[in-house]
Formats: sequence, C-alpha cells, structure tokens
Amino acid sequence: MSEARLELDDIQSGVLRPRPAPYVATYIVFRIDDRRAGRELMRGISNVVTSAANPSSPLADTWASVALTYQGLKALGVPAESLDSFAWEFRQGMASRATELGDTGESAPQYWEKPFGTPGVHVVLVAVSPDSQRLEEVLEPARKAYRDMSGIEAIWRQDCHALPSETEPFGFRDGISHPAIEGSGIPGTNPKEAPLKAGEFVLGYPDELGGTQFPQPETLGRNGTYVVFRKLQQRVATFRKFLRDNSKNSDEEELLAAKMMGRWRSGAPLSICPMHDDPQLGADPKRNNDFLYKEDDPMGFKTPGGSHIRRTNPRDATIAGVVRLHRMIRRGTAYGPLLPDGVLKDDGADRGLMFAFVGAHIGRQFEFVQSEWINSGIFFGAEKDKDPVVGSLNDQDKFTIPRRPLRRRLQLSQFVVTRGGEYCFMPGIRALRWLADLQT
Ligand code: HEM
Repeated sequence: MSEARLELDDIQSGVLRPRPAPYVATYIVFRIDDRRAGRELMRGISNVVTSAANPSSPLADTWASVALTYQGLKALGVPAESLDSFAWEFRQGMASRATELGDTGESAPQYWEKPFGTPGVHVVLVAVSPDSQRLEEVLEPARKAYRDMSGIEAIWRQDCHALPSETEPFGFRDGISHPAIEGSGIPGTNPKEAPLKAGEFVLGYPDELGGTQFPQPETLGRNGTYVVFRKLQQRVATFRKFLRDNSKNSDEEELLAAKMMGRWRSGAPLSICPMHDDPQLGADPKRNNDFLYKEDDPMGFKTPGGSHIRRTNPRDATIAGVVRLHRMIRRGTAYGPLLPDGVLKDDGADRGLMFAFVGAHIGRQFEFVQSEWINSGIFFGAEKDKDPVVGSLNDQDKFTIPRRPLRRRLQLSQFVVTRGGEYCFMPGIRALRWLADLQT
C-alpha cells in the first residue's frame, strides 16, 4: 500500500511535533457561555494556531494549539448528528471513565481541581515555546482573541517549564521515545520500529486496521485528532523514600529506579546498558531508543516486563495483544518547582506532569494502555502487578524484578495522583473556521 500524503498545512502543529527542549508551556481552559462568542474565539484562534507544515522552520518550535471537549462542541452549537459521530469515549468525557482509568481513591474525580470533572471545561489552549519571550509572542495574539470578549471565560491555567535538571520531576530524562508516522516527515526515534500508518494519529487517513473513520462532516473531522490531557501530580519525596527504604546504598537506589522505569535517569536504556548508567548514551538520540526486547531479553532480566517503558511499549516482546494498535504520541510537560536533590520530606508543593496523549483512537490507544498495560499485568503474565511508577497503586500492588536465582518482589506506594483532565478533539485548521462559521 502506498503512503498516505498528510495535509500538513491543515494539521495543528501540536499533533505531530515533539515539544522543544528546553521548553516553557501554558495550558488555558475556557468556558463558552455564549455560542456566538465561542465561534469568534475559534475564528481568532484559527489565525494564531500554526500548522505542522515546514517542520524545519526556526519558528516551528513555538506554537499554539487548540482543542475542544464534547461539551465545548455542544456549547458552540455543533449539530446533533455531527456530535453523535465522535468517538464514544470522547462523548462520555474523562471523569465518566474514572473506574476504567484507575482514577479512584485520591485520584477520583470528586477530588480533582475544579473545573475538571464538571461540564464547564470547553476549550483547551496550549502554547509551547523554547523560552518565555517567544511564548508571550504566541500568547499575545491568542489573548487578543479572547480578552475583551464577553461570553467566554478563562477558568483554569497551568504554567509548565523544563526543570533545571531537564528531566521530569522524578528525575528521569523524558520525551525520548516517539513512534514514526508515515507521511509526516518527522522521523521516529526507534530505527527498529516501522513507521505507523498516519490514521493511527490523524483522522481521515488509513490506520493500521485499514479503517479511515472520522467525525462528520468531513470538513470538521478530517485532519483532526483526539488529545487526552491529564494533570498528574508526582509525589517525589515518597518516590525517593521508597528507593531509599528498599536499597542498601545509593548505587542500589539508582538501579532500583532504573528497573522501575526501564531506563537510567540519564535516559540510557537498561536494554543496552543493564549494569550501570551511561549518560552519553542517554543523551544520544541516535542510540538511546535503538532496541527491542524479544531476542535479547525475553524474560526481562535487563528491562523488567513490569517496568514503565516496557509496559507502555512492549515493542516486540511476547505479550497478549498487538503492540502496533496501542501506540501513542506523548507530549508531557513538567509543572511545579524541582524538589531539591536529597530531600526526602514532602515540602507540600504541587509538582508533576501535564501529560498529553495524541491519537486517533482514545479507546484502543490511551484507555487500553492506561487500563490493560499500566494498571494490570495480565498481558505479560503478572496478573497482580501494576506499573511501579505511574500505576494507580494501593498497598497490595507489587512490582517484580526478574533475577537469578530468585526474583525480587516489592510492595509499592502511590507515586502519581490524577488531579484532573479531559478528553478533547483537536480539529484541523479548516475545521476551526468551519466551527467559527456555524449558523445554528
Ligand atoms: C507522571 C506520570 C509519568 C511519568 C513521570 C512518566 C515518565 C516517563 C519517562 C521518564 C519515560 C522514558 C522516556 C521516554 O521514552 O520518553 C516514559 C516513557 C513512556 N511513557 Fe511515561 N510517564 C508518565 C505517565 C505516563 C502515562 C499515563 C502513559 C500512558 C497512558 C505513559 C506512556 C509512556 C510511553 C508510551 C512511553 C514510551 C515507552 C517506549 O516507547 O519505550 N506515561 N515515561
């Protein structure tokens, strides 16, 4: 089959482009009280949002993207037959899917930051840039589009920024592994993974199963995609204390951290250097994702089957299911201050990751990974285990490190708590104008 040509000039930049490093980012959530004002917001923002064309332009690192929730599409007056053509999970919204996602206990929607979990979350605007000055340059015209408009309310904001350590808050290099997408012109990071069909990530193109579903009408659905935002609070002191309590010395602590993640903090994969960290390898984009599991490490003696990266992308490992149907684009940005090195006591600060998933299939991509691969171990034969870093954990949950002569089993604590989030649709740029021109 020939490669689909993606209409890059109609696809929002945030869909295909990895965030710059270092970065600053802002998320702003709007409520639409008046549909005419909402449509004017779409018109204004359609002039600000950048497309995925020209990936090599120096301006390409700075962009604004906009996405709408199901309630947001309703608030704009999108007709019912169109609303009904969107993915079922999207129409339910994230809070309604809490049980399936493991958002229970402290992560349950009733404890989320407001307005998450309420019907008032309509539009999410994200701006990303390598520095604050350029972020302001992209935000200012967006602000003009909503500042003096009545009938639109900015109701939540989260500023994010690369930490001085250039890692996520637990201290690991992030943003390493991304799938390659046919026709996008943006290379993947694992030379051993064949590019995925464009329809896995952009609606309106054939996907891995040969389908081309998209919401109707075509002008609205084509070149759009689904985006899942989650504010994930990270309990860094609890994580560090767990490592300390389960290790005899600092070398063991680092090895345990690496076994839980599947990579050393530098980003170097256990698969390539199982015994010690190799910061040069961790920083080398040509080598740090160039590996598979099946032949070299079928039992997980190097990279445990239960580690975060092997669960969320088992690559060619023998598991129940087809890995290529559950791949995802991730766009995580850190928020909150760094917990200084060595501190094991919680300082009460809110810190974590604004996690963003991008993909054409919320159900078989994001929800599947979250429920079957992160919060269950059945797929690789460890029924009682969960993801040791990001799982929805309680005192019964375990992490297994395969070892000779005896495996090691550890009892986990909860390190990540969901503070809110929503399922969104990120329309193509023509679709934003279609929304602005609605006459209902
Ligand atoms: C606070 C929560 C999280 C933290 C701190 C975290 C951290 C990391 C880190 C450090 C990596 C390795 C670097 C990389 O490959 O980019 C990684 C990889 C990955 N994470 Fe997470 N993550 C979090 C939540 C999630 C969630 C909720 C999902 C899915 C629903 C997810 C899916 C993935 C995937 C697919 C990979 C790439 C695996 C690979 O291809 O090898 N992560 N994460």
